[in-house]
Order: sequence, then C-alpha cells, then structure tokens
Amino acid sequence: GLPESVTIWEVGPRDGLQNEGAIVPVDVKLEFLDRLADAGGTVLEATSFVHPKWVPQLADAEELLARLTKRPGVAYPVLVPNERGLDRALRAGVEHIAIFASATETFARKNLNSSLDEQFAMFDPVVARARAEGLRVRGYVSMCFGDPWEGPVAREQVVGVAKRLLDLGCDQLSLGDTIGVATPGQVTALIGAFDRVDRLAVHFHDTYGQALANTYAALLAGVRTVDSSAGGLGGCPYAESATGNLATEDLVWMLDGLGIAHGVDLDKLCDTSAWMAERLGRPSPSRVVRALRG
Ligand code: HMG
Ligand code: MG
Repeated sequence: GLPESVTIWEVGPRDGLQNEGAIVPVDVKLEFLDRLADAGGTVLEATSFVHPKWVPQLADAEELLARLTKRPGVAYPVLVPNERGLDRALRAGVEHIAIFASATETFARKNLNSSLDEQFAMFDPVVARARAEGLRVRGYVSMCFGDPWEGPVAREQVVGVAKRLLDLGCDQLSLGDTIGVATPGQVTALIGAFDRVDRLAVHFHDTYGQALANTYAALLAGVRTVDSSAGGLGGCPYAESATGNLATEDLVWMLDGLGIAHGVDLDKLCDTSAWMAERLGRPSPSRVVRALRG
C-alpha cells in the first residue's frame, strides 16, 4: 500500500542543470541550493565530479562546494564516476556520493566511455574507497526501461546490473528512466523483480508525461525514496530525447493529495522554480508551477 512518508531526493541542481547550455553562475547555483533547503528539502543532489569537458555546466563543482553553507539535517550527495572524481569529491569534503551505471552497452559507451562490463571495474575502487572513508554510496542504473539506441531494455539485464552495484557495496539503488519512456505496468514489474524494495529509489524523466503515474506505481510497490527536480528541469547531455525530470512540485501536489508526508513547502518551492525560470530565461515545464504561478 501507500506509505505515510516519502523522501524526496532533489536532483535539480545536478540533473536539472547539467543539460543547460549557458553556464549558470555559481552564485545562482548556491542560491538555488539555499532556497531548496529553505523550502524543506533534505536531500539536495548538488553537482557532479565528472570530467569538466564532458559536462561543462558542472565544472565549478569545487568552487560550489567550497562556498556552500551546508544546513544541518540536509544531505548534499554528488555524482562521481571514477577514482579521479572521488579524489576531487573527498578533497571537497563530501559525505555522500552516487555512482551511475548504465543498463545498456551503448549508453555505457556514450555516457562513460566504457563498456557495460568495464563500468564495474571503474566503480569498484570508487565504492570501496568511499565506504572505507565512511561515505554513503548510491548507485544509479540508467536506461532501465528503454534506450534511444537499443530500444526496450530487458528486465533481467536491469536486475543484473543492479545486483552488481549492490555487490560492490552501494547502500541504495536509483532506477532511472533516463528518456522517460516507461509506463506504470513496467514499473510495477521491474520493482517486483527485486527481493528487497527498501534499498530502491526511482528516477523518472517526464518525456512522455508518465513520470507521476510511474511514481504512483512505485509507491504502491513499496518504494519510499523518489527523485525529482524543482520546476521539472533536467535531461542528460549524452542521451538524445531525454527531457526534464519529474517536477518536484508535481510530485508534492500528488503527495499532498494522498496525505503522504514529505516535508517540502510547495509555496516556497514554486517561488524557487519561478525564480530559476527567470534566471534560465524560459518558463518552468512543471504543470503545477504553471498552474500556481503562470
Ligand atoms: P574518459 O575520457 O574515458 O576519461 O572519460 P579517462 O579516464 O580516459 O581520462 C582522460 C582525462 O580526463 C585524464 O586527464 C583524466 O585525469 C581526466 P589527462 O591525464 O589526460 O590530463 N579525468 C577527469 N578529470 C576530472 N574529473 C574526473 C575525471 N575523470 C578523468 N572525474 C569519464 C570517462 C567517466 C570521466 C567521462 O565519460 C565522464 O565524465 N562522464 C560523465 C558523463 C555525465 O556526467 N553524464 C551525466 C550524468 S548521468 C545521468 O544524467 C543519468 C542519471 O540522471 C540517471 C538517469 O536519468 O537515468 C544519473
Ligand atoms: Mg536523470
């Protein structure tokens, strides 16, 4: 059944911004993080320690973390692909990282410049060292439902990649619909293929307008952590046809209607997304932001 409370894992500062062509000033990113914390966010995925040429928008990760005033009770996880990224993240004082694997061969190549098998060799020392340092480690699985180059992705393949991430020592897995093609029946079936749901989170992009329905299916299947992006920003620069994430406002509207606690103040969040939309020069794609602030 449905839970009493849900953890919202806010990915706006990372997934939301990584695809923006024009570089967002670090001051704006810092204000975005502060506003999200003011609005009650407790997990704010802050940035990525990836190769700066691969994601120029997040090349300021060091400066961002050096200048960030961390709030008590708020976690600021960051993406880390390899040991070079972990070195940078540790020097920046992070306590929570996320590695990101692909369920498909083609996307591993496009996003990580590695094969499906090679990605685990890259992640293995990252997870081992991070855990030895006492960090928490999330593992993303991308392309869990469909891949723009390979088409539909077999459930066994996703579960196989997920299991390898758990074996490396990840404490949580986030199942990603990178290009937003999944529908609720597929979500129910994928989550049902895992023995334990308590370590699962879901990460839906809203390309085909299914993200909220998929989230509802995931909640019914026992998932208690949901990724979303303030204002529905987002996309992946290495996955054509990936659009924004599930908007946090749309998620909050649904959770409020269901009486599920989440700790986020919708009014402050909408103000934040309206403010960010002005900075980015285009309206928020979130239906709820448009309805309340349009
Ligand atoms: P590569 O070119 O194969 O790297 O990229 P390399 O290991 O061959 O190293 C080449 C040079 O890069 C070396 O420098 C390294 O030191 C340097 P040189 O010796 O030539 O001077 N280098 C680095 N520098 C800074 N930071 C680093 C780093 N690593 C190497 N971390 C690599 C391989 C993994 C680095 C690259 O492919 C990469 O950065 N990929 C990241 C792509 C990305 O960020 N994609 C978006 C995030 S994933 C996503 O959005 C999906 C998600 O939201 C879930 C979903 O929606 O499904 C999470
Ligand atoms: Mg994503």
